[in-house]
Amino acid sequence: SNTGVRIGIDRMGMFVPGQYLDVEDLARARGVEPAKFTKGIGQSRMSVPQHYDDIVSMGANAIADILPDIDVNRLGLLIVGTESGIDQSKSSSLFIKHLVGLPNRIESFEIKEACFGGTAGLFAAYHYVAAHPDKTVLVVASDVARYGLGTAGEITQGAGAVAMLISVNPSILVINDDAEDYSDDINDFWRPNGMTEAVVDGKYSTQVYLDFFRHVFDAYCGKHALAPRDFAALLFHLPFTKMGMKALNVALENADVETGKRLRENFELSASYARNVGNLYTASLYLSLMSWLEHADDAAGQRIGLFSYGSGAMGKFFTGCVQPNYRQHLHALAHEHMLMDRERIDMDEYERMFTHYHAAEDAETKYPESGFYFSGVQGAIRQYSRA
Ligand code: HMG
Repeated sequence: SNTGVRIGIDRMGMFVPGQYLDVEDLARARGVEPAKFTKGIGQSRMSVPQHYDDIVSMGANAIADILPDIDVNRLGLLIVGTESGIDQSKSSSLFIKHLVGLPNRIESFEIKEACFGGTAGLFAAYHYVAAHPDKTVLVVASDVARYGLGTAGEITQGAGAVAMLISVNPSILVINDDAEDYSDDINDFWRPNGMTEAVVDGKYSTQVYLDFFRHVFDAYCGKHALAPRDFAALLFHLPFTKMGMKALNVALENADVETGKRLRENFELSASYARNVGNLYTASLYLSLMSWLEHADDAAGQRIGLFSYGSGAMGKFFTGCVQPNYRQHLHALAHEHMLMDRERIDMDEYERMFTHYHAAEDAETKYPESGFYFSGVQGAIRQYSRA
């Protein structure tokens, strides 16, 4: 189905805000046994955005991570996948395009289907490149996951962005255009107009996630005569890392012990970033991919499987082949520093930042020391700057 053309991910960049909350601090403050959050949910740290970290600034910062490696002359399209939109009409991608200095001749828009938006962008980019092999596409997935103070979903919050360059003959991952899809109109998680926090039927959402995974994984493996042992790694959308482990256990139901051990070890490598930042919604699956690529032993030439899930709901299972010398094109060390260098905040600071996040659009004076940031609203127009 690829008509011989190899298309996929050529570059990957990321951004996470400069602050985190230790989930054990959150557990103690909420009267919960810390082991529930660290083991039962599988999280360690939660990325907390400042009022100046929105999907535009985070997306622009993720692009800046790879922009020096990109030939802007070949760029034809910029797509942003998000469910934390900053406007009902204008695309966040136009703010981002301007901030990072991309030319006006490129096409640009935003895409939405809950956490599936990044994957929708990736496959739209794939088909654009298939039609225009001389061109490349930037796909940005950027989100702020908010459920509210004291809610069951609070432990599954997070914030950050991933940027990917899609091209022919990619340096990192060739993607196969034979994905298995499944969609249905259900209400497991949504955010009505005017609400700044998600509404969620938590237990139900985890069940639908697993049902959709089983459906697309079994269908894909059936069509292509594949079994879990044929994958170097299975990677997941990770609203919290335990969710992916549960899905992996579904995949491993009939697998031999050796395969199970190998895929669980690789899952842990893929979950390392998510465990330390939380749910990045549209960016989460791609953060899993980066985490795995940047931590696993050399995987050149190997097949991997990826499960994307967006509430509402949409599921996709697709596969890819890791490219030779892919490690040279990743920024593993810089990403390790990005996570290590964050400031640990306490519960008071976290609650202040959470409450302040949407309220502070005009009032704030504190800005970051580097990177792009949201600097307030003037005349109903959002303003951005670079430190
Ligand atoms: P909860 O009710 O607080 O947790 O909600 P629980 O009671 O189900 O416990 C969680 C786990 O901790 C259980 O393990 C407990 O046994 C264990 P499990 O049975 O699941 O294996 N546990 C302990 N373990 C060790 N020591 C202890 C202990 N106590 C309990 N002392 C829930 C959890 C995830 C439902 C909640 O946080 C939530 O609603 N989160 C938001 C929704 C969500 O993330 N859903 C995921 C699937 S939907 C999705 O991925 C899409 C999404 O990203 C949005 C989009 O698409 O846009 C969310």
